[in-house]
Amino acid sequence: MPTTRPGEWIDTALSLAEIDADKFGSQISTDRYTSREFQERERELIWTKTWQVVGRVSELPKTGDWKTYRLFDQSYIIVRGKDGLIRGFVNACRHRGNLICQGNTGNSKQFLCQYHLWSYDLNGKLRGILRENIQGPIDKDENSLLPVAVDTFAGFIFLNPDLDAEPLSEYIGDEVAELLAPYHLDEMTTVMDVREALECNWKVVMDAFQEGYHISGVHPQLLQQIDINPTQSRYRFFDDHAVACSPFDVANAQKFGPEEHVEGIRKLPETFPTLTSILPRFDELVASYRQENGQLEFPEGTTARTILQQAARDTFTGMGLDVSRLTDAQMSDNQGWVLFPNFFMTIRAGECHVIMATPHPGGDPNRCVWHVSSYMWLPDDLVDQFRAEPIEVTEPGSHEYFLALQQDFEQMQRQQNGLRNERLDHLSLVKEEVVVAHFHSVLDRHLAATTTS
Ligand code: FES
Ligand SMILES: [Fe+2]
Repeated sequence: MPTTRPGEWIDTALSLAEIDADKFGSQISTDRYTSREFQERERELIWTKTWQVVGRVSELPKTGDWKTYRLFDQSYIIVRGKDGLIRGFVNACRHRGNLICQGNTGNSKQFLCQYHLWSYDLNGKLRGILRENIQGPIDKDENSLLPVAVDTFAGFIFLNPDLDAEPLSEYIGDEVAELLAPYHLDEMTTVMDVREALECNWKVVMDAFQEGYHISGVHPQLLQQIDINPTQSRYRFFDDHAVACSPFDVANAQKFGPEEHVEGIRKLPETFPTLTSILPRFDELVASYRQENGQLEFPEGTTARTILQQAARDTFTGMGLDVSRLTDAQMSDNQGWVLFPNFFMTIRAGECHVIMATPHPGGDPNRCVWHVSSYMWLPDDLVDQFRAEPIEVTEPGSHEYFLALQQDFEQMQRQQNGLRNERLDHLSLVKEEVVVAHFHSVLDRHLAATTTS
Protein backbone atom coordinates (compact mmCIF):
# COMPACT_ATOMS: atom_id res chain seq x y z
CA MET A 1 0.00 0.00 0.00
CA PRO A 2 1.80 3.11 -1.17
CA THR A 3 1.78 6.01 1.25
CA THR A 4 3.88 9.11 1.65
CA ARG A 5 4.29 8.33 5.35
CA PRO A 6 4.98 4.61 5.86
CA GLY A 7 4.94 5.16 9.64
CA GLU A 8 1.15 5.18 9.38
CA TRP A 9 1.41 1.40 9.10
CA ILE A 10 2.65 1.36 12.67
CA ASP A 11 -0.15 3.63 13.93
CA THR A 12 -2.61 1.01 12.70
CA ALA A 13 -0.58 -2.11 13.53
CA LEU A 14 -1.79 -4.80 15.93
CA SER A 15 -2.43 -4.01 19.58
CA LEU A 16 -1.65 -6.50 22.31
CA ALA A 17 -5.32 -7.46 22.54
CA GLU A 18 -5.38 -8.30 18.84
CA ILE A 19 -2.36 -10.59 18.95
CA ASP A 20 -2.95 -14.30 19.32
CA ALA A 21 -1.13 -14.99 22.57
CA ASP A 22 -0.20 -18.53 21.55
CA LYS A 23 1.12 -17.64 18.14
CA PHE A 24 4.78 -17.61 19.10
CA GLY A 25 4.62 -19.73 22.24
CA SER A 26 5.27 -18.55 25.76
CA GLN A 27 7.61 -21.20 27.12
CA ILE A 28 11.30 -20.90 26.36
CA SER A 29 13.82 -23.59 27.17
CA THR A 30 16.66 -22.33 29.37
CA ASP A 31 19.42 -24.46 27.85
CA ARG A 32 19.63 -21.87 25.10
CA TYR A 33 21.24 -19.47 27.55
CA THR A 34 23.82 -21.79 29.07
CA SER A 35 24.53 -24.83 26.91
CA ARG A 36 27.64 -25.08 24.76
CA GLU A 37 25.90 -27.56 22.51
CA PHE A 38 23.06 -25.11 21.91
CA GLN A 39 25.57 -22.38 21.18
CA GLU A 40 27.31 -24.63 18.65
CA ARG A 41 24.01 -25.01 16.82
CA GLU A 42 23.53 -21.25 16.87
CA ARG A 43 26.99 -20.85 15.46
CA GLU A 44 26.37 -23.27 12.65
CA LEU A 45 22.81 -22.30 11.74
CA ILE A 46 22.57 -18.65 12.68
CA TRP A 47 25.88 -16.84 13.04
CA THR A 48 27.55 -18.35 10.00
CA LYS A 49 24.43 -17.89 7.88
CA THR A 50 22.81 -14.55 8.68
CA TRP A 51 23.53 -10.93 7.94
CA GLN A 52 24.89 -9.09 10.95
CA VAL A 53 25.94 -5.51 11.57
CA VAL A 54 29.72 -5.12 11.79
CA GLY A 55 29.98 -1.35 11.88
CA ARG A 56 29.01 1.99 10.39
CA VAL A 57 29.88 3.11 6.89
CA SER A 58 31.25 6.30 8.47
CA GLU A 59 33.94 4.25 10.24
CA LEU A 60 35.63 3.65 6.88
CA PRO A 61 35.57 7.07 5.19
CA LYS A 62 38.79 6.79 3.17
CA THR A 63 40.32 4.37 0.69
CA GLY A 64 42.23 1.71 2.58
CA ASP A 65 40.37 2.21 5.87
CA TRP A 66 39.72 -1.20 7.39
CA LYS A 67 38.28 -2.74 10.50
CA THR A 68 38.15 -6.29 11.75
CA TYR A 69 35.11 -8.24 12.92
CA ARG A 70 35.38 -11.18 15.27
CA LEU A 71 32.80 -13.93 15.38
CA PHE A 72 33.76 -16.71 17.82
CA ASP A 73 37.27 -17.66 16.62
CA GLN A 74 36.63 -16.35 13.12
CA SER A 75 38.09 -13.05 12.00
CA TYR A 76 37.09 -10.91 9.05
CA ILE A 77 38.50 -7.78 7.42
CA ILE A 78 36.15 -5.09 6.14
CA VAL A 79 37.88 -2.55 3.91
CA ARG A 80 37.07 0.37 1.63
CA GLY A 81 38.61 -0.13 -1.80
CA LYS A 82 39.99 2.34 -4.31
CA ASP A 83 36.65 2.26 -6.12
CA GLY A 84 34.91 3.36 -2.90
CA LEU A 85 33.22 -0.02 -2.38
CA ILE A 86 33.36 -1.77 0.97
CA ARG A 87 34.45 -5.42 0.78
CA GLY A 88 34.93 -8.22 3.26
CA PHE A 89 37.61 -10.92 3.47
CA VAL A 90 38.57 -13.76 5.72
CA ASN A 91 41.42 -12.41 7.83
CA ALA A 92 43.94 -15.07 6.88
CA CYS A 93 46.88 -15.13 4.49
CA ARG A 94 46.51 -17.64 1.69
CA HIS A 95 50.15 -18.71 2.04
CA ARG A 96 50.23 -20.31 5.47
CA GLY A 97 47.28 -18.74 7.17
CA ASN A 98 48.78 -15.93 9.18
CA LEU A 99 46.40 -13.26 10.48
CA ILE A 100 46.66 -10.37 8.01
CA CYS A 101 45.12 -7.47 9.97
CA GLN A 102 45.84 -7.23 13.66
CA GLY A 103 43.98 -4.84 15.89
CA ASN A 104 40.55 -3.36 15.39
CA THR A 105 41.07 -0.69 12.76
CA GLY A 106 43.68 0.78 10.47
CA ASN A 107 44.46 2.19 7.07
CA SER A 108 46.57 0.36 4.50
CA LYS A 109 47.51 0.94 0.89
CA GLN A 110 47.75 -2.82 0.59
CA PHE A 111 47.64 -5.79 2.95
CA LEU A 112 51.11 -7.08 3.72
CA CYS A 113 51.39 -10.37 5.58
CA GLN A 114 54.14 -10.01 8.15
CA TYR A 115 55.15 -13.67 8.06
CA HIS A 116 56.67 -14.11 4.57
CA LEU A 117 55.63 -10.76 3.10
CA TRP A 118 53.00 -11.80 0.61
CA SER A 119 50.91 -8.75 -0.28
CA TYR A 120 47.33 -8.28 -1.39
CA ASP A 121 45.59 -5.25 -2.85
CA LEU A 122 42.46 -3.73 -1.33
CA ASN A 123 40.36 -5.95 -3.62
CA GLY A 124 41.96 -8.94 -1.91
CA LYS A 125 43.97 -9.94 -4.98
CA LEU A 126 47.36 -11.48 -4.33
CA ARG A 127 49.95 -9.09 -5.77
CA GLY A 128 53.39 -9.70 -4.33
CA ILE A 129 55.28 -12.89 -3.45
CA LEU A 130 58.75 -12.70 -1.91
CA ARG A 131 61.36 -13.93 -4.43
CA GLU A 132 58.51 -14.89 -6.69
CA ASN A 133 60.85 -16.02 -9.48
CA ILE A 134 61.99 -19.07 -7.54
CA GLN A 135 58.76 -20.01 -5.68
CA GLY A 136 56.47 -20.76 -8.57
CA PRO A 137 54.31 -21.59 -10.13
CA ILE A 138 51.69 -19.83 -7.97
CA ASP A 139 48.34 -18.85 -9.44
CA LYS A 140 47.65 -15.41 -7.98
CA ASP A 141 43.93 -15.52 -8.77
CA GLU A 142 43.61 -18.82 -6.96
CA ASN A 143 45.45 -17.45 -3.93
CA SER A 144 43.66 -14.18 -3.35
CA LEU A 145 42.05 -13.39 0.02
CA LEU A 146 38.83 -15.33 0.59
CA PRO A 147 35.88 -12.99 0.11
CA VAL A 148 32.85 -12.70 2.40
CA ALA A 149 29.57 -11.00 1.59
CA VAL A 150 29.39 -7.39 2.75
CA ASP A 151 26.69 -4.81 2.02
CA THR A 152 25.27 -1.67 3.57
CA PHE A 153 21.86 -0.56 4.72
CA ALA A 154 20.85 2.64 6.56
CA GLY A 155 24.47 3.60 7.14
CA PHE A 156 25.33 0.24 8.74
CA ILE A 157 27.77 -2.29 7.29
CA PHE A 158 26.44 -5.83 7.30
CA LEU A 159 28.48 -8.99 6.80
CA ASN A 160 27.34 -12.52 6.09
CA PRO A 161 29.89 -15.36 6.39
CA ASP A 162 27.76 -17.52 4.08
CA LEU A 163 28.78 -17.11 0.44
CA ASP A 164 25.40 -18.47 -0.66
CA ALA A 165 23.49 -15.96 1.44
CA GLU A 166 20.44 -14.20 0.06
CA PRO A 167 21.12 -10.52 -0.76
CA LEU A 168 20.97 -8.17 2.23
CA SER A 169 18.08 -6.26 0.65
CA GLU A 170 16.02 -9.46 0.66
CA TYR A 171 16.99 -10.22 4.23
CA ILE A 172 15.96 -6.75 5.37
CA GLY A 173 12.82 -6.83 3.21
CA ASP A 174 11.06 -4.06 1.29
CA GLU A 175 8.65 -3.15 4.07
CA VAL A 176 11.34 -2.75 6.71
CA ALA A 177 13.44 -0.68 4.30
CA GLU A 178 10.48 1.52 3.46
CA LEU A 179 9.53 2.00 7.11
CA LEU A 180 13.05 3.03 8.10
CA ALA A 181 13.91 5.19 5.07
CA PRO A 182 12.18 8.41 6.24
CA TYR A 183 14.40 8.58 9.35
CA HIS A 184 17.53 9.17 7.22
CA LEU A 185 19.55 6.84 9.42
CA ASP A 186 22.45 6.91 6.98
CA GLU A 187 22.88 10.63 7.68
CA MET A 188 23.14 10.22 11.46
CA THR A 189 26.37 10.76 13.37
CA THR A 190 27.71 8.33 15.97
CA VAL A 191 27.48 10.05 19.36
CA MET A 192 28.15 7.00 21.58
CA ASP A 193 29.94 3.75 20.75
CA VAL A 194 30.88 1.39 23.58
CA ARG A 195 31.77 -2.30 23.56
CA GLU A 196 32.21 -4.44 26.64
CA ALA A 197 32.21 -8.12 27.61
CA LEU A 198 29.20 -9.08 29.76
CA GLU A 199 28.65 -12.07 32.01
CA CYS A 200 25.49 -13.22 30.26
CA ASN A 201 24.37 -14.99 27.12
CA TRP A 202 23.88 -12.76 24.07
CA LYS A 203 20.15 -13.49 24.06
CA VAL A 204 19.76 -12.18 27.61
CA VAL A 205 20.75 -8.83 26.14
CA MET A 206 18.38 -9.17 23.21
CA ASP A 207 15.49 -10.20 25.49
CA ALA A 208 16.04 -7.29 27.87
CA PHE A 209 15.54 -4.68 25.18
CA GLN A 210 12.51 -6.25 23.56
CA GLU A 211 10.06 -5.65 26.38
CA GLY A 212 8.99 -2.77 28.60
CA TYR A 213 7.63 -5.13 31.25
CA HIS A 214 10.76 -4.69 33.37
CA ILE A 215 10.56 -0.90 33.55
CA SER A 216 8.63 -0.88 36.85
CA GLY A 217 11.17 -3.22 38.42
CA VAL A 218 14.44 -2.01 36.94
CA HIS A 219 13.88 1.58 35.83
CA PRO A 220 11.27 2.95 38.29
CA GLN A 221 12.59 6.48 37.76
CA LEU A 222 11.23 6.45 34.21
CA LEU A 223 7.67 6.00 35.50
CA GLN A 224 7.80 9.35 37.23
CA GLN A 225 8.28 11.01 33.88
CA ILE A 226 6.70 8.95 31.17
CA ASP A 227 3.48 7.06 30.79
CA ILE A 228 3.73 3.31 30.27
CA ASN A 229 0.51 1.86 28.94
CA PRO A 230 0.96 -1.52 27.23
CA THR A 231 -2.58 -1.47 25.86
CA GLN A 232 -1.52 1.46 23.65
CA SER A 233 1.46 -0.34 22.11
CA ARG A 234 1.42 -1.42 18.48
CA TYR A 235 3.28 -4.39 17.01
CA ARG A 236 4.24 -5.51 13.57
CA PHE A 237 5.98 -8.80 12.89
CA PHE A 238 7.98 -9.68 9.81
CA ASP A 239 9.41 -13.10 8.99
CA ASP A 240 12.57 -12.51 10.99
CA HIS A 241 12.27 -8.98 12.28
CA ALA A 242 9.80 -7.02 14.41
CA VAL A 243 8.84 -3.50 15.40
CA ALA A 244 6.91 -2.28 18.41
CA CYS A 245 5.91 1.23 19.37
CA SER A 246 4.33 2.85 22.41
CA PRO A 247 3.04 6.41 22.49
CA PHE A 248 5.45 8.69 24.32
CA ASP A 249 3.65 10.88 26.80
CA VAL A 250 4.24 12.34 30.23
CA ALA A 251 3.16 10.35 33.25
CA ASN A 252 -0.43 10.84 34.41
CA ALA A 253 -1.24 13.08 31.45
CA GLN A 254 -4.93 12.21 31.68
CA LYS A 255 -5.22 13.29 35.31
CA PHE A 256 -3.84 16.78 34.94
CA GLY A 257 -4.63 19.95 33.07
CA PRO A 258 -2.54 21.64 30.37
CA GLU A 259 -0.22 23.46 32.81
CA GLU A 260 0.93 20.29 34.57
CA HIS A 261 1.13 18.45 31.29
CA VAL A 262 3.38 21.14 29.81
CA GLU A 263 5.48 21.14 32.97
CA GLY A 264 5.87 17.35 32.62
CA ILE A 265 7.19 17.74 29.08
CA ARG A 266 9.59 20.48 30.17
CA LYS A 267 11.11 18.08 32.71
CA LEU A 268 11.62 15.26 30.20
CA PRO A 269 15.14 16.33 29.18
CA GLU A 270 16.34 15.36 32.69
CA THR A 271 15.89 11.78 31.47
CA PHE A 272 15.87 12.31 27.71
CA PRO A 273 18.53 14.99 27.19
CA THR A 274 18.22 15.10 23.43
CA LEU A 275 14.76 16.65 23.81
CA THR A 276 16.49 19.82 25.03
CA SER A 277 16.92 21.17 21.52
CA ILE A 278 13.17 20.95 20.92
CA LEU A 279 12.11 22.87 24.06
CA PRO A 280 12.59 26.44 22.76
CA ARG A 281 10.14 25.82 19.94
CA PHE A 282 7.87 23.92 22.33
CA ASP A 283 7.77 26.95 24.64
CA GLU A 284 6.98 29.25 21.73
CA LEU A 285 4.09 27.08 20.63
CA VAL A 286 2.75 26.75 24.19
CA ALA A 287 2.90 30.54 24.62
CA SER A 288 0.72 30.96 21.56
CA TYR A 289 -2.08 29.11 23.39
CA ARG A 290 -1.94 31.29 26.50
CA GLN A 291 -4.96 33.55 26.87
CA GLU A 292 -4.82 37.19 27.93
CA ASN A 293 -5.80 36.20 31.46
CA GLY A 294 -2.74 33.92 31.60
CA GLN A 295 -4.77 30.71 31.30
CA LEU A 296 -3.43 27.97 29.04
CA GLU A 297 -6.16 26.64 26.78
CA PHE A 298 -5.64 24.05 24.09
CA PRO A 299 -8.13 23.73 21.25
CA GLU A 300 -9.79 20.38 20.62
CA GLY A 301 -7.24 17.82 19.47
CA THR A 302 -4.23 19.77 20.76
CA THR A 303 -2.32 18.44 23.76
CA ALA A 304 1.15 18.93 25.15
CA ARG A 305 2.07 15.73 23.24
CA THR A 306 0.90 17.09 19.89
CA ILE A 307 2.69 20.38 20.60
CA LEU A 308 5.87 18.44 21.36
CA GLN A 309 5.49 16.68 18.01
CA GLN A 310 4.99 19.98 16.19
CA ALA A 311 7.98 21.48 18.01
CA ALA A 312 10.13 18.50 16.97
CA ARG A 313 9.01 18.80 13.36
CA ASP A 314 9.67 22.54 13.26
CA THR A 315 13.04 22.22 15.01
CA PHE A 316 14.36 19.45 12.76
CA THR A 317 13.06 21.13 9.63
CA GLY A 318 14.75 24.35 10.74
CA MET A 319 18.04 22.47 11.17
CA GLY A 320 17.80 21.02 7.68
CA LEU A 321 16.55 17.48 8.37
CA ASP A 322 13.78 16.40 6.03
CA VAL A 323 11.13 14.93 8.33
CA SER A 324 8.29 15.34 5.86
CA ARG A 325 7.85 11.58 5.44
CA LEU A 326 7.72 10.89 9.17
CA THR A 327 4.34 10.79 10.93
CA ASP A 328 3.49 12.94 13.94
CA ALA A 329 3.86 9.88 16.15
CA GLN A 330 7.38 9.34 14.82
CA MET A 331 8.27 12.84 16.02
CA SER A 332 7.78 11.80 19.65
CA ASP A 333 7.53 8.03 19.90
CA ASN A 334 10.36 5.55 19.94
CA GLN A 335 9.91 2.59 17.67
CA GLY A 336 11.71 -0.49 18.95
CA TRP A 337 13.15 -2.49 16.07
CA VAL A 338 14.57 -5.98 16.14
CA LEU A 339 16.55 -7.10 13.12
CA PHE A 340 17.34 -10.74 13.66
CA PRO A 341 19.62 -11.99 15.04
CA ASN A 342 21.23 -9.36 17.22
CA PHE A 343 20.32 -5.82 16.28
CA PHE A 344 17.96 -3.87 18.53
CA MET A 345 17.24 -0.22 17.89
CA THR A 346 14.98 2.45 19.31
CA ILE A 347 14.42 5.21 16.83
CA ARG A 348 12.48 8.44 16.61
CA ALA A 349 12.92 11.54 14.47
CA GLY A 350 16.53 12.67 14.58
CA GLU A 351 18.05 9.97 16.78
CA CYS A 352 18.41 6.31 17.51
CA HIS A 353 20.05 3.97 20.02
CA VAL A 354 21.34 0.56 19.05
CA ILE A 355 22.06 -2.44 21.25
CA MET A 356 23.81 -5.45 19.79
CA ALA A 357 25.23 -8.55 21.42
CA THR A 358 27.46 -11.25 20.00
CA PRO A 359 28.60 -14.49 21.59
CA HIS A 360 31.86 -14.14 23.48
CA PRO A 361 34.84 -15.04 21.27
CA GLY A 362 36.04 -17.37 24.03
CA GLY A 363 32.99 -19.60 23.40
CA ASP A 364 31.48 -19.52 26.92
CA PRO A 365 27.67 -19.30 26.42
CA ASN A 366 27.41 -17.52 29.77
CA ARG A 367 29.28 -14.56 28.32
CA CYS A 368 28.84 -12.19 25.41
CA VAL A 369 30.07 -8.88 24.09
CA TRP A 370 27.57 -6.09 23.95
CA HIS A 371 27.88 -3.07 21.75
CA VAL A 372 25.81 -0.01 22.60
CA SER A 373 25.76 2.97 20.32
CA SER A 374 23.74 6.11 19.71
CA TYR A 375 23.28 8.14 16.57
CA MET A 376 21.87 11.62 16.02
CA TRP A 377 21.03 13.63 12.99
CA LEU A 378 23.08 16.84 13.30
CA PRO A 379 23.58 19.87 11.10
CA ASP A 380 27.01 19.82 9.42
CA ASP A 381 28.55 22.41 11.74
CA LEU A 382 27.82 20.29 14.84
CA VAL A 383 28.96 16.91 13.54
CA ASP A 384 32.58 17.17 14.68
CA GLN A 385 31.59 18.47 18.10
CA PHE A 386 29.33 15.52 18.89
CA ARG A 387 31.00 12.66 17.04
CA ALA A 388 32.16 9.92 19.45
CA GLU A 389 35.10 7.61 19.02
CA PRO A 390 34.66 3.91 19.82
CA ILE A 391 35.38 2.83 23.39
CA GLU A 392 36.51 -0.72 24.17
CA VAL A 393 35.99 -1.37 27.88
CA THR A 394 38.68 -3.74 29.08
CA GLU A 395 38.25 -3.32 32.84
CA PRO A 396 34.85 -4.94 33.58
CA GLY A 397 32.37 -2.49 35.05
CA SER A 398 34.69 0.51 34.76
CA HIS A 399 32.57 2.28 32.18
CA GLU A 400 29.62 4.25 33.44
CA TYR A 401 26.59 4.14 31.17
CA PHE A 402 23.66 6.52 31.48
CA LEU A 403 21.35 5.50 34.30
CA ALA A 404 18.82 3.31 32.47
CA LEU A 405 21.54 1.48 30.55
CA GLN A 406 23.58 0.98 33.71
CA GLN A 407 20.51 -0.57 35.35
CA ASP A 408 20.10 -2.98 32.40
CA PHE A 409 23.84 -3.74 32.43
CA GLU A 410 23.62 -4.90 36.05
CA GLN A 411 20.27 -6.66 35.70
CA MET A 412 21.26 -8.81 32.73
CA GLN A 413 24.21 -10.32 34.53
CA ARG A 414 22.05 -11.07 37.59
CA GLN A 415 19.57 -12.86 35.34
CA GLN A 416 22.28 -15.07 33.87
CA ASN A 417 23.21 -16.25 37.36
CA GLY A 418 19.62 -17.39 37.84
CA LEU A 419 19.47 -19.00 34.41
CA ARG A 420 22.46 -21.18 35.24
CA ASN A 421 20.39 -23.17 37.75
CA GLU A 422 19.92 -26.60 36.22
CA ARG A 423 16.48 -27.30 37.70
CA LEU A 424 15.06 -24.33 35.82
CA ASP A 425 14.23 -25.86 32.46
CA HIS A 426 12.02 -23.19 30.93
CA LEU A 427 10.92 -19.58 31.17
CA SER A 428 7.31 -18.40 31.00
CA LEU A 429 6.74 -15.27 29.00
CA VAL A 430 3.74 -13.00 29.53
CA LYS A 431 1.80 -11.33 26.77
CA GLU A 432 3.63 -8.01 27.09
CA GLU A 433 6.76 -9.91 26.12
CA VAL A 434 5.34 -10.90 22.75
CA VAL A 435 8.34 -9.46 20.87
CA VAL A 436 10.64 -11.68 22.93
CA ALA A 437 8.38 -14.64 22.09
CA HIS A 438 8.57 -13.76 18.39
CA PHE A 439 12.36 -13.46 18.56
CA HIS A 440 12.72 -16.93 20.07
CA SER A 441 10.29 -18.41 17.56
CA VAL A 442 12.51 -17.00 14.78
CA LEU A 443 15.60 -18.39 16.51
CA ASP A 444 13.94 -21.82 16.77
CA ARG A 445 12.94 -21.70 13.11
CA HIS A 446 16.52 -21.00 12.04
CA LEU A 447 17.84 -23.75 14.30
CA ALA A 448 15.32 -26.22 12.89
CA ALA A 449 16.83 -25.83 9.42
CA THR A 450 18.71 -28.88 8.30
CA THR A 451 22.42 -28.59 7.69
CA THR A 452 22.51 -30.92 4.71
CA SER A 453 22.06 -29.24 1.37
S1 FES B 1 51.69 -16.77 5.97
FE1 FES B 1 51.43 -14.94 4.94
S2 FES B 1 53.16 -14.73 3.72
FE2 FES B 1 53.44 -16.64 4.68
FE1 LIG C 1 15.85 -1.77 30.43
